[in-house]
Amino acid sequence: MKDHIKELNERFTKEMSQVCDQRSLEELRLAFLSKKGQVSQLMSELAKIPNEQKKEAGALINSFKQDIIKRFDDKLEEIKKAEEERLISSAESYDESLPEKRRKGSYHPITLVQRELEQIFASMGFDVEDYSEIVDDYHCFEALNIPKFHPARDMQDTYYLSTPNQLLKSHTSAAQNAIMYKYGKLLKENGRPIRAVFPGRCFRNEAIDACHENTFFQMEGIMIDKNISISNLIYFMKTMLSEVFERDVTVRLRPGFFPFVEPGFELDIQCLICNGDGCPSCKNTGWLELCPCGMIHPNVLRMGGINTEDDPYAYTGFAFGLGLTRLAMMKYGVKDIRTFNEGDLNALSQFVSK
Ligand code: DAH
Repeated sequence: MKDHIKELNERFTKEMSQVCDQRSLEELRLAFLSKKGQVSQLMSELAKIPNEQKKEAGALINSFKQDIIKRFDDKLEEIKKAEEERLISSAESYDESLPEKRRKGSYHPITLVQRELEQIFASMGFDVEDYSEIVDDYHCFEALNIPKFHPARDMQDTYYLSTPNQLLKSHTSAAQNAIMYKYGKLLKENGRPIRAVFPGRCFRNEAIDACHENTFFQMEGIMIDKNISISNLIYFMKTMLSEVFERDVTVRLRPGFFPFVEPGFELDIQCLICNGDGCPSCKNTGWLELCPCGMIHPNVLRMGGINTEDDPYAYTGFAFGLGLTRLAMMKYGVKDIRTFNEGDLNALSQFVSK
């Protein structure tokens, strides 16, 4: 009996050393401790041996049994602990229902471009202004020389609220009048030029496709002082765009019509991909349309309280309306405008600031 137990003990020790998970441990447990297992067989052998040896043999079997039960328990503990540690170290396994790995938040690409522009303009002495998204008809249109029933309103169909006269602003130009009132006194009494940029979310009733969204961002800017001319406009635009694209850019002005500027322009930059030779990105023209702008219309300056009817040209100024969303598309090479509003973290977390 002694030898048999010794031999079983060696076999158990060897097989136990090969156990690596709960399943193989259970198999080993069944082989030794189940009804038909090795320990039960030892017990049935006990019946066959002479009575005087039974007591000692029984004690041996019992201590062998207790010993292997303890070793099973210890091994089970060890396996469970290892499994727990593995789970902790690989966080994904904690909740397999999570759609994707958790990650740190990141700024939206439009926020990144907006902040960069704000810094550039601030360094050129511009105030950065905030303005509401709900505006009235007067500020969005009339104060910008777009009277009721003017055809220019067709391009800016937007969302009207049930409150009379309230709408979601269709362009950041809607803040021009308020900014003129805010800083006009300082201009006239202290000679402090008005220099302000006002970024904001805009809304339009659009058929949505890769280039059009009903919600998009613009950054408007105005500068008003004595003797402001188109040269000032070109200088500021060129400086700002060279900073944004981190290289010298070539710009050109084409005539463009906007009721609130006279003259009005479309500002193009030479294509940064082909340097003006022509490529698919610039539709083979060598130029990209980037920013409508112009000299602020005398009617707008008058309605903004800057000039009087007697002296309609006392102060002059320029205005521009940068498409922030478009700029972000060009800067980051985003081909579909919908990417910005879809909330797909895989796409949106790829952008980092400088
Ligand atoms: N507000 C115009 C739009 O959204 C863009 C614009 C054009 C703004 C000319 C300006 C400007 O300041 O001078 O279509």
